[in-house]
Amino acid sequence: MRKQIAAANWKMNLTLEGAQGLLDDILKEAVQPGANQQVIFAVPFPYLMMAKERVTQQGYAVAAQNCSNKKSGAYTGEVSVEMLRSIGIDHCIIGHSERREYYGEIDEILQQKLALCLDHGVTPIFCCGEALDVREKGKQNDFVREQLEKALFEFSGSEMKKIVIAYEPIWAIGTGKTATAEQAQQMHAFIRSVLAEKWGLDVANDVSILYGGSVKGANANELFGSPDVDGGLVGGASLNASEFIQIIKALKH
Ligand code: PGA
Repeated sequence: MRKQIAAANWKMNLTLEGAQGLLDDILKEAVQPGANQQVIFAVPFPYLMMAKERVTQQGYAVAAQNCSNKKSGAYTGEVSVEMLRSIGIDHCIIGHSERREYYGEIDEILQQKLALCLDHGVTPIFCCGEALDVREKGKQNDFVREQLEKALFEFSGSEMKKIVIAYEPIWAIGTGKTATAEQAQQMHAFIRSVLAEKWGLDVANDVSILYGGSVKGANANELFGSPDVDGGLVGGASLNASEFIQIIKALKH
């Protein structure tokens, strides 16, 4: 059965002290994830080990926000999937729209990163989603289908089952403008239908599809209540302990 996931994406925020304080505030609440639930913190690289040491006991996981598309070698400043794995990190965000937009991460690069993650047993959280002008033209389904085809279609069904998808409409990221529960459900059902067409229903029903874009404590219940929305990838609101706790509690059981 696919997992219901609350994933915090801290992006490039917080000092070490702030990061420790935020995790401690969240841990104090001791919200225990259910058997089909997962709580993941995607923290900046320097805090991965600290976060892992702090949250593992509570049953939470830690993710990297990015990884290199190269295996190893002379790539100054890069962090390989093997390095992540060697410190016990088993999730990694791939293809966030900020990486695509500001760091030129094209589909081919994303495909390489996904392949490395799968080779090393790291679960990729693969992001997709359209910009405002695409939605205004009503082309969001075609756009997202193309993103899925280009990055994911070379993988087998058993590999696809190991990938988490995050649908994050760019117009809703950090804008306070959330997709309605209906818009989210429509797109998530569409994404699942694309997966079913390619790999069959068994695979499609096993893949967690998260919604991202201005998820908050106040809207998480409604968004996560939709049948194809399996939780959220949360930016801004994940930097606030009580907001994120509310979001964890909104996950379906
Ligand atoms: P947001 O970011 O929750 O601040 O909109 C979500 C994301 O970019 O993952």
